[in-house]
This record gives sequence, structure tokens and C-alpha cells, in this order.
Amino acid sequence: MQAVQITTLDGPDGALQIVDVPEPEASHMLTPGSGVVVDVRAAGVSFPEVLQTRGEYQLKPPLPFVPGSEVGGVVRSAPVGAAVGEGDRVAAFCMLGGFAEVAVAPEFFAFALPDSLDFGQGAALILNHHTAYFALKLRGRLLEDETVLVHGAAGGVGTAALQVAKGLGARTIAVVSTDDKEPVAREAGADEVLRSDGPWKDQAKELSGGGVDIVLDPVGGDRAIDSLRSLGEEGRLVVVGFTGGSIPEIKVNRLLLNNTEVIGAGWGAYVMGKPDLNREIGAEIGRLADEGFVKPIVGARYPLEQTADALKLIEGRGATGKVVLEL
Ligand SMILES: NC(=O)c1ccc[n+]([C@@H]2O[C@H](COP(=O)([O-])OP(=O)(O)OC[C@H]3O[C@@H](n4cnc5c(N)ncnc54)[C@H](OP(=O)(O)O)[C@@H]3O)[C@@H](O)[C@H]2O)c1
Repeated sequence: MQAVQITTLDGPDGALQIVDVPEPEASHMLTPGSGVVVDVRAAGVSFPEVLQTRGEYQLKPPLPFVPGSEVGGVVRSAPVGAAVGEGDRVAAFCMLGGFAEVAVAPEFFAFALPDSLDFGQGAALILNHHTAYFALKLRGRLLEDETVLVHGAAGGVGTAALQVAKGLGARTIAVVSTDDKEPVAREAGADEVLRSDGPWKDQAKELSGGGVDIVLDPVGGDRAIDSLRSLGEEGRLVVVGFTGGSIPEIKVNRLLLNNTEVIGAGWGAYVMGKPDLNREIGAEIGRLADEGFVKPIVGARYPLEQTADALKLIEGRGATGKVVLEL
């Protein structure tokens, strides 16, 4: 089969090669001897793959390896008892191996793809939307009618967080860096859109009548202090990532003074060994998709030959929604 491998650690331009490799067995590293085999129609591209081309991501498989954590496609075979079967359209999380014509996922990470979503949207469904649900509901304890502010709101996690927050009955405020990104955030469900280079903290306080309930932050850096200041009483800053490049330090007296919390939300490591939790989150995301709230925004589609361009779009801060490879 055709696949893209990371062969060196030179960054997107030098590290990638299109190769012919044997198709994988029906076995996944999380479920040895068992796995759902998927004919891949689209593969999701994310920040971790950019980091993997430089050996800077926590998951460091020996070279060469096929990257790609999630796919949309059609089931070729599935273990007995799996929720999906041969011929089903699925969204599947394979961790690695997704940039290829055939990939394998654990059965608890393969979900029926709603008819309303295409394969590209399937490849955009799991990493971002499961993270958004985990961060907002399970870690952030989001309640109906609360106000959520989302940083990086036109990005993959950001658009997913806006969709999930709306689906859970929240009011949403998006923070983006450019005019071009505003319509993307609106399409994803932002009630209000603020600019990251403007007085967003004061605007957010005013719009929310004194302070927001949750800030979901995939950006980090110097936004963290103003994020804390934008919270209302009992507000929660949910830390999801650091695309801004630096990890903020917070003096905890700020939390005491305003009765606020900082909460870490690391989806991957937490859910990998918890099949039932993945099924539960998958069911909730499926429900929100059926209700029309979850509808992944795919901002760019590339053929496998242009994987480097897909990675550079993300690295250059140019991506909106999800970037996918189409096979
Ligand atoms: N915790 C978890 O379990 C989990 C799960 C999935 C992903 N993540 C992490 O979440 C982060 C966001 O992922 P994503 O897929 O949403 O990425 P993305 O689509 O590229 O979006 C990231 C956003 O960050 C903002 N940003 C600010 N400074 C940036 C910079 N210097 N370079 C690039 N972007 C910058 C951009 O928004 P503006 O231009 O509007 O500021 C951009 O839209 C990543 O760090 C990823 O590793 C964490």
C-alpha cells in the first residue's frame, strides 16, 4: 500500500517520504491481536505530526514510521463484538499509521460515521471533538447556560470546542488573531468573536456580565494571566495546549483571591486505557452530531503527495478548522 513515512527528523520539508509498505495486520498496539482494519479515505493532520517531523513530540516511534492519528474510511474487517462491521463508514483513532491507504484502530476507537458527515469530516472528528468534550464537560464541569471563552477558536480544537460547547447549551465567546478567522469561529458556533490583539479580557467580562465560567486554552503563553482575570467567581481555566510556544507560570494567590481554578485536560494519555470512557464520549459526540451541533469544519484538503504542505500550513498558523489528507 501507499503511505507517508517520517524518515528523518528534519521538519516537514525534509522528513517525509511517500513509500510502498506492506498492509498492516488486524492488530493494534493497544489491543494486540485485535483491531478494526480501515480502508482510509481521509486522514486528519494535527500539531503533533508537525512536532513528530522534528522528534519533538512525546510519542517517539523508531524511524521510519507512518504518522497519522485518525482517519475516516470504510471498515474492511472488525473483531467479533465490535460496534462497527465490514462495509461501515467510520471515524477511527489509530494513534499512528493513518497517513496510509490502510490503517488499524482499537475497536473502542472506531465509531460509525453519521451520514451527514463526509470522510474528511470523519478524519476530523475524534482528536478535537473528544478532547473538547473531555476538557469542557469531564474536566471543566460545564453546565448549561454557562459562558465559555475559547482561545485559538478558528483552529482544530477551537472550532470543535465551540461546537461542543453550543451542543451542551453554553454561551460562547471566541478569541482569534485575524479578521479571516472570525467567520470560521462564527460558523463553528461563536456567539461573540473577539480579537487576541485587542482588549478581549475586558470585553469578555462585559459580555458575560462580570466574568466567564470557563476559558478553554489551547494557546498558552502570555494569555494565561488575562484568561484568569476574565473569569467570574468559581470560573475555571482549562489548559489544553501551548501553540503560542511558551508554558505560562501562574501565581496561585490569583486563584485564592477570585475563587477560581486552573484545570489540566490531557485527553490522550487519560483515555487510552479506558475503553468504556471512549465509548461514552463517542456516544455523546455522536448524539451532538445527530443534533447538528458537531459538524467538523475542514479548512484544507491535500492529496497524500502534499503532506508537507499540510504540515506547513499548521506550523505557519494558517490552518482553519481541521487539515486533512484525502486518499
Ligand atoms: N490536551 C489535549 O488532550 C490535546 C488534544 C488535542 C490537541 N491538543 C493541543 O492543542 C493545541 C491546538 O491544536 P489544534 O489542532 O487546534 O491546532 P491549530 O488548528 O493549529 O490551532 C491552534 C491555534 O493556536 C493559535 N496560535 C496562537 N499562537 C500560535 C502560534 N505561534 N503558532 C500556531 N498557532 C498559534 C492560532 O489561533 P489564532 O491565530 O487565532 O491565535 C491557531 O488557530 C496543540 O498544542 C495540540 O497539541 C491537546
